[in-house]
Amino acid sequence: MIGAQRYRSHTCAGAAEALGESVRVSGWVHRRRDHGGVVFIDLRDRSGLLQLVFHPEAGEDVHRAAGALSPEDVVCVTGEVVARSAQTVNPALATGSVELRVEGLEMLSEADPLPFSVEDESQEASEELRLTYRYLDIRRPRRLRALEMRSRVASAMRRVLEDEGFLEVETPVLTRSTPEGARDFLVPARMQRGSWYALPQSPQLFKQLLMVGGIERYYQIVRCFRDEDLRADRQPEFTQLDVEASFVEPQDVQDLMERVLRGSFAAAGVEIATPFPRITHAEAVRRFGTDRPDMRFGMEILDWTGPASSSGFGVFEGAIGAGGVVRGLVVPGAGAAVSRKVGDELMEEARELGAKGLVWAAVEEGGALRSPVAKFLGSIAADLGAEPGDLIALVADAEPVAQAVLGTMRLRFAERNGLVPEGAWAPIWVVDFPLVEWHDGRWDSTHHPFTAPRPEDLDRLESEPGEVLSLAYDVVLNGLEIGGGSIRIHDRGVQERVFSLIGLSDEEAEAKFGFLLKALRLGAPPHGGIALGLDRIVMLLAGERSIRDVIAFPKTATGADPLTGAPAPVDALQLRELGVKPSGPPA
Ligand code: AMO
Ligand code: AMP
Repeated sequence: MIGAQRYRSHTCAGAAEALGESVRVSGWVHRRRDHGGVVFIDLRDRSGLLQLVFHPEAGEDVHRAAGALSPEDVVCVTGEVVARSAQTVNPALATGSVELRVEGLEMLSEADPLPFSVEDESQEASEELRLTYRYLDIRRPRRLRALEMRSRVASAMRRVLEDEGFLEVETPVLTRSTPEGARDFLVPARMQRGSWYALPQSPQLFKQLLMVGGIERYYQIVRCFRDEDLRADRQPEFTQLDVEASFVEPQDVQDLMERVLRGSFAAAGVEIATPFPRITHAEAVRRFGTDRPDMRFGMEILDWTGPASSSGFGVFEGAIGAGGVVRGLVVPGAGAAVSRKVGDELMEEARELGAKGLVWAAVEEGGALRSPVAKFLGSIAADLGAEPGDLIALVADAEPVAQAVLGTMRLRFAERNGLVPEGAWAPIWVVDFPLVEWHDGRWDSTHHPFTAPRPEDLDRLESEPGEVLSLAYDVVLNGLEIGGGSIRIHDRGVQERVFSLIGLSDEEAEAKFGFLLKALRLGAPPHGGIALGLDRIVMLLAGERSIRDVIAFPKTATGADPLTGAPAPVDALQLRELGVKPSGPPA
């Protein structure tokens, strides 16, 4: 074992297997109890806890030293592992049947009073404080378990890919912009004044160049950088399992990823069934109001436009007259709890999500409707298959608005009404994405501009771009996008047409991606790939709600690291060398 000579013959957990032996262990003072002369210390190392007992007869020095120990001191102790008496066995502790009768104690490092308790995880410190002292936070078992799981998951991913002949190849971090839809982080180049590197939003272009380079099977566990507004599932730097292969079709990449995900989930003790189901983008949006449907429960979005058009309810008929739809959800068992007040709150919630309002109806015993507008709702319960006790929620609006609002309400209803089954894993492939979307008056790539259109749609690229589907696929787990990829364009002509469709002039395309276009002319194999979001996957597996909880040193919502103080001002001299003019914070 590492450190065996000087510091330890056993870990804390390992000592439990050494009954009757003399051992040496090292670790942190987790907690201390004094019992009439006998001092008990729980010693902690990465393997777990071990109870140390200091009897007065162990020698005055040792006993006095034990009495003076404070939380998180680092000590090395020697002594004999003895069985606990039947009454003192602690079944809550893995090592609870033994204790270490201490004969010698060496203080390795004294700890000052702590900013928050490591031992008592229920004592919730603010996230800011926990991140400032992240190394203390990491000592807590919950954080440690997440990092252990992350390591296991990543090695399982590597194992599956290595077994299938994939090579891990590193790609540059100081590079040029890779368009993945976010803002770039830029680094000034001292040796080329006025020029800037961009940190990669992903290794997208390099992995394609590796395919042109004949690598055929590439992967990399790689940091990506995106300067975007942060959320619980987003960090400015995050980690992808990035994969690319030559001579493949979508199915090949998807099958491979199912093997990778199955293997890495198994490393975290989670079984998932393969193959994953598939849903088209259009169907996902229609049934679930989102392109990342949570498939752990049903409650699909239902259409009531037909009956609503002759309901006599002005709000509905007006919306339909303007080209809109009436869509709704049936929430099982949620009707009884909805009073007028709760109904008003639902309406307000729908408004905040962008709807003009929300109609609710509770189906009572016998089938009668309780709703402020019951008289307009006619046979809705039967039409939508609602049972007594259920709640119906309806939104009338332009289709995309109604779908998006109900898509979000669906998740909230499920959460609030306990409709999400505990411990369920529901992965799904979302396929057949539109190649481009209309954004702010122009066509923009739905994924990135290197995504291949379906061959059968190529002749509509210019005439009906909005109808063209791509060979892109996302993998979604429990409502979270955990990965996305595509077959790429390997034909220079098609790549130029896509650039031109998204408004890149020939000159711009040449300036930004000329190196790719050139490569596509020098023998580019058909190729495709995917990137999985490692942080998100581990977050789900660890049962955490934020990817910050599964990153050793994450950034706060404002992109700051309270531990190091990054980002921070730099010397004027440094800026001068870089040829960058200092500027204060924006007014
Ligand atoms: P994409 O942009 O979909 O694809 O990213 C792949 C996966 O990375 C994760 N992810 C993030 N995780 C944490 N914080 C972020 N800010 C963040 N952004 C993305 C998601 C996402 O599914 N080059 C393409 C892949 C390809 O085409 O092969 C790409 O980067 O889980
Ligand atoms: P109003 O006519 O604004 O008083 O609305 C009457 C009822 O219809 C209220 O319960 C509103 O929440 C609801 N409502 C208004 N607009 C919509 C809409 N677009 N979709 C669903 N319900 C709506």
